Amino acid sequence: MDDDIKKLVEEIYFITGYDFRSYRPETFQRRISLRMMDTKCSTYQDYLIFLKNHPAEREPLVNSVTIKVSHFFRNPLVFEVLYNEVLPKVITSKMSDKTPQLRIWFAGCAGGEEVYSTAILIRELENKRFPGLKAFLLATDIDRQALEFARAGIYNKAALTEVKKGYLDKYFQVEGKYYKVNKWIQEIVSFGYYDLVAAKVPSPPSGLFTNYDLIFCRNVLMYYNEPVNQQIFKRLLGCLNNPGYIILGEAESLLPNAINRLQEVYPKLRIYKNHHT
Ligand SMILES: C[S@@+](CC[C@H](N)C(=O)[O-])C[C@H]1O[C@@H](n2cnc3c(N)ncnc32)[C@H](O)[C@@H]1O
Repeated sequence: MDDDIKKLVEEIYFITGYDFRSYRPETFQRRISLRMMDTKCSTYQDYLIFLKNHPAEREPLVNSVTIKVSHFFRNPLVFEVLYNEVLPKVITSKMSDKTPQLRIWFAGCAGGEEVYSTAILIRELENKRFPGLKAFLLATDIDRQALEFARAGIYNKAALTEVKKGYLDKYFQVEGKYYKVNKWIQEIVSFGYYDLVAAKVPSPPSGLFTNYDLIFCRNVLMYYNEPVNQQIFKRLLGCLNNPGYIILGEAESLLPNAINRLQEVYPKLRIYKNHHT
């Protein structure tokens, strides 16, 4: 990392507690320039002074550095395969459990688009193939504003272009120009703050963060350098059931510490399955 950027990142950590030390420098630099333009600061030093004097700048800073572009059914083929193959297989394999409950974790859920898309598919499967299906979907992020937005579940048309008309009618209420996800899908989803990189969290984590049948961690690894991504993988693997699946973003791939544990079952779709032991 370039020395000036390194210093800036350290100072930001000191002022705000936000830890961008393991971010990819190019991504960080690009995003911070946007904040500098918006706040009319021409040097890193000016920006640090601005940040110290304006606590309200913290939120836009974290928003800008952690890009949150998403939409419903992003990479539709992944959701097709989920609906037709992965979810039915997982659900069937759990049928012999005493109290079968499907557990899915969305690590880096942004505005909730991905978790609600999956919740729709689960309700459809419950309706058509698995009556009485129980599911728990946990969606976490480090961006509290994104979590608030996700909890509200209100979206504009642009986020919904991949949503089938039948699903729009069934799972959304129209509110003026917006669409609000209905209670039926909201009630199986819980949102919470969780930092995948924070050092304090035990690995493998306990309690809430155990026994997941599926873990989505799409378009999150791209922020970080390889050592941090290795840690993230370790954490995710510690929370995954066997059998279980991890789903990454389109441009992401497995790191060496995960290659022995996971097998790519749907090439190009970044859907990986835990090896049976
Ligand atoms: C580009 S969005 C991806 C959203 C969704 N997973 C998708 O693929 O459509 C990445 C999200 O990861 C979150 N994120 C980045 N670093 C994180 C961390 N250390 N722990 C948890 N979430 C993180 C960001 O705040 C952002 O909401």
